[in-house]
Amino acid sequence: MAMKFRGTMVLVVIASVMMGTSLAFPGWNDNKGYAWPPKQDEGPAKVPPKKVIVGGSENWHFGFDYSTWAHKSGPFYVNNTLVFKYDPPSGDNTHADSVYVFPSFRSYMRCDLKRATMVANVSDGAGDGFEFTLSQKWKPYFFACGEKGGLHCSTGKMQFSVMSLPRRRKWHG
Ligand SMILES: *[C@@H]1O[C@H](CO)[C@@H](O)[C@H](O)[C@H]1NC(C)=O
Ligand SMILES: *[C@@H]1O[C@H](CO)[C@@H](O)[C@H](O)[C@H]1NC(C)=O
Repeated sequence: MAMKFRGTMVLVVIASVMMGTSLAFPGWNDNKGYAWPPKQDEGPAKVPPKKVIVGGSENWHFGFDYSTWAHKSGPFYVNNTLVFKYDPPSGDNTHADSVYVFPSFRSYMRCDLKRATMVANVSDGAGDGFEFTLSQKWKPYFFACGEKGGLHCSTGKMQFSVMSLPRRRKWHG
């Protein structure tokens, strides 16, 4: 129990340090130190857009902890694309998933789907999946599955948020 708590604290501290660094110093380059102002020839056009499959090999399904996944998978940058993959209901398989976006942290925390917008229906996740691009910088995005009246969001842990940070000036990855 103590170990688990300590592990969680370490994660929180690392996350805050990373966020704090990014928030306080928009010109920070990961390994190269502080560079401000950024050079004009290192503009966003050179940075390849990143596509991330939500949940990795787990894809988008009931019961996987997507908040933890999002923490481990970040940071996310503007114009990164999230790919939601899930099977549409067919035949005897009536299980369905979808993707909703909440307008606020409050509605997200409550899984209040009445305030949310459906961005992908039960069949949009088929094949290559549904792609959602984080098109605005400094915007917190709140996602959830909208099925079963919020049960997938709350009990099913199918909810997570990401912040779209401004572009790094150099691509190290
Ligand atoms: C994001 O993509 C749009 C459309 O392709 C582009 O106009 C914009 O410059 C991009 N922004 C960044 C920060 O890469
Ligand atoms: C889901 O949306 C697509 C368009 O993205 C539409 O063609 C399809 O009919 C919709 N399916 C359902 C079950 O609403």
